[in-house]
Amino acid sequence: MAGNPLDKKSQGWSALFSEPMDVLVQRYTASVGFDRRLARADIAGSLAHARMLAAQKVIAAQDLADIERGLEQVGEEIDSGRFEWKLELEDVHLNIEARLTQLVGDAGKRLHTGRSRNDQVATDIRLWLRGEIDAIAPLLVQLQKALLDVAAQHTDTVMPGFTHLQVAQPVSFAHHLLAYVEMFARDAERLADVRKRTNRLPLGAAALAGTSYPLDRDAVARELGFEALSENSLDAVSDRDFAIEFAAFASIAMVHVSRLAEEIVLWMSQNFGFIDLADRYCTGSSIMPQKRNPDVAELARGKSGRVIGHLMGLLTLMKGQPLTYNKDNQEDKEPLFDTVDTLAATLRIMAEMVGGIRVKPDAMRAAALKGYATATDLADHLVKEGVPFRDAHEVVAHAVKLALARGVDLAELPLAELRALHPSIGDDARDALTLEGSLNSRAVRGGTAPAQVRAQIERHRRRLG
Ligand code: ARG
Repeated sequence: MAGNPLDKKSQGWSALFSEPMDVLVQRYTASVGFDRRLARADIAGSLAHARMLAAQKVIAAQDLADIERGLEQVGEEIDSGRFEWKLELEDVHLNIEARLTQLVGDAGKRLHTGRSRNDQVATDIRLWLRGEIDAIAPLLVQLQKALLDVAAQHTDTVMPGFTHLQVAQPVSFAHHLLAYVEMFARDAERLADVRKRTNRLPLGAAALAGTSYPLDRDAVARELGFEALSENSLDAVSDRDFAIEFAAFASIAMVHVSRLAEEIVLWMSQNFGFIDLADRYCTGSSIMPQKRNPDVAELARGKSGRVIGHLMGLLTLMKGQPLTYNKDNQEDKEPLFDTVDTLAATLRIMAEMVGGIRVKPDAMRAAALKGYATATDLADHLVKEGVPFRDAHEVVAHAVKLALARGVDLAELPLAELRALHPSIGDDARDALTLEGSLNSRAVRGGTAPAQVRAQIERHRRRLG
């Protein structure tokens, strides 16, 4: 077997270098500690490249057979943990190539024909991210389904809807949860869109300018399942906008999760008491024996911070880079990996936790009654009797004042006293003032009326299959 130049890499890149790389520099520039996560994508990309090289007669059929055999063994060694990763070989690409050459000799040294690590790494990240996108999409579906299952049981469970965190109008708990289903449905749309732009093949761009070998880029794209090519070689090796876009999607999804988590924390506090969480999703306190804390929800809220941070990191990483590839881009991996891990773990546990929510309808109802949530309904009643809305608004303010002074709910004020405020208040005013009357009346598309909400649940269930 001929010598393997990659084995001597720590002594220098080529005959051009007259002294070995400084140890600190070696440690500083190596990425193999984290980019080994791309190994499977790297092997898949190399196989597709080698097959195309053979089909184009750039390498011999025997070389291809050797490369295929060697890469299979490399894959097995990596999967079984036997692979010896070497820091002096810098990154996942050089580690795999060196081992391949050790195993199969010259054929291994031919693999890199017409290719650079610049288009190689861009291809690997895209392949890897596409796989992760396909794993995250069902997690978004699971979370939506968990919300729908709880919602289906609570289309008639009344809670206060809030604006400014002040009691505003009655809504059903189902309606409230469906708001989050809408958010996660849009996140899923965004993810599908990110996938399209991630799923384009950079390979063939080589270092930056393309290559003189007769590569068949379309064949490589087909084999790897890419739906299009990166059409400009300079852009192909240098931009990481697909990763930024993924981080933006993930940040928005985590913000949605964080809002839901925040509400779960609030609802579970004694002051609200709207829900309880199954014990298995709570933690205790080491000092206060009475405590049951919603740590999972708090962490989900907290972890949104790191994902948003990664988005900022990736944007900042890109913004000052002149075309084309710069080593800065090596810094894209850790934030991207952590974004994927954090989002996936959070979506998974949120779906589980939502399934374990125990609703306390009485507390929700009491809170809705306490806040004069049906005041708008009394105003609407007057408007239907011909009173201009602004006048009705004023009359109802007086009614609330009266109810407050008595310490009663609006529906409990005697009809005669309501009439004294405005003669147009009719016999059926009291019905409009009940929580159920209020809920049922909001039957506009997208409104909180139980019939409307049930229809929305059906629509979502059909969509999610
Ligand atoms: N480890 C490198 C990265 O993550 C691979 C590409 C290196 N290319 C180069 N020209 N140094 O970006």
